[in-house]
Amino acid sequence: MYLTGKIAIVTGASSGLGLSMCKKLIEKGTIVYGLARNKTALEKLREWAGDRFHPVILDITNSDAVTNWVDMKFHAGNIPDILINNAGIGYFGKVEDISLEQWDRMLQTNLSGIFYLTRKAVPLMKQSQNSSHIINIASVAGLVGNPQISGYNATKFGLRGFSEALFKELRYDNIKVSVIFPGSVATPFFDKTDIQSHKNMLQPEDVADTVIHLLETPDNFLISEITVRPLNPNAPDS
Ligand SMILES: NC(=O)c1ccc[n+]([C@@H]2O[C@H](COP(=O)([O-])OP(=O)(O)OC[C@H]3O[C@@H](n4cnc5c(N)ncnc54)[C@H](OP(=O)(O)O)[C@@H]3O)[C@@H](O)[C@H]2O)c1
Repeated sequence: MYLTGKIAIVTGASSGLGLSMCKKLIEKGTIVYGLARNKTALEKLREWAGDRFHPVILDITNSDAVTNWVDMKFHAGNIPDILINNAGIGYFGKVEDISLEQWDRMLQTNLSGIFYLTRKAVPLMKQSQNSSHIINIASVAGLVGNPQISGYNATKFGLRGFSEALFKELRYDNIKVSVIFPGSVATPFFDKTDIQSHKNMLQPEDVADTVIHLLETPDNFLISEITVRPLNPNAPDS
C-alpha cells in the first residue's frame, strides 16, 4: 500500500507503540485517527502532527461509543484504509490473585474492544476500491503461555485466533489481516508492574518500522503473522 493520503485508525495512540506508529504514519503522509482515553497526550500529538492527526477520545470497551463514532465519521465516501488494533492492557500475578475486575478489563480491552471496531470497519473496507489492511498487535504472550500472565495470555492467544480467522475470511475482499507478536517493548506498559524497562527491550520506533513495512508490501503480498524479539533480552547490567 502506498501510504500517502491513506486513512488510518490507530487505537492506543496516546502512549508507547501506538504513539510511535502514529508518528511514523503521519511522517508518511497518512491521515491518522488516533484513539485513546488520555486527552492531554492526544492533544500533544496533535500539536506535533498538525492536521494529519485527528485525536479521538474514546474508550474502546464502550461498544456504543465505538459504533456511534464510526457511524458518524466514516461512510462510502470516507473509508478507513488501515485499522491498527493496538490498545491493550496487562495485569500480571498468580491466577488466584487476578481480580474479577482485572480479568474483565483485560478481556474487554484486548479482545472485545478489537471486535467492536473491526466489525464496524470491515463493511466499509469491503466497499473500498483500494486494498485495506487490519493489523492486530498481540504479543509473544499470544504464542507461549507462562506463569503469572494467564489472563493476558488468554487474551493474546484469543487475538491470534481472531486474526487467523479474519485473514482467511477477508482475503478475497482485498482486505489484509496481519498479527504481530512482539517480545518486550520499552513502553509505559510496564509502569504499573514489577518489571523494569531496560534498553535491551525492543524499542517502540523499531516495532513501528516493522508495521510500516507490513503496510507497504505490494497489494497481493501478505505477511499474515510476524514475531519480533530482542536478540538478547537480558537487561544490560544483569
Ligand atoms: N510493551 C510490551 O512489552 C508489549 C509487548 C508485546 C505486546 N504489547 C502490546 O502492545 C500494545 C501497546 O502496548 P504499549 O506497550 O504501547 O503499552 P502502553 O504504553 O501502556 O499503551 C497502551 C495504550 O492502550 C490504550 N488503551 C488502554 N485501554 C484503552 C481503552 N479502554 N480504550 C482506548 N485505549 C486504551 C492506552 O491509552 P489510554 O490509557 O490513553 O486510553 C495507551 O495508549 C498492547 O496491546 C500490548 O499488549 C506490548
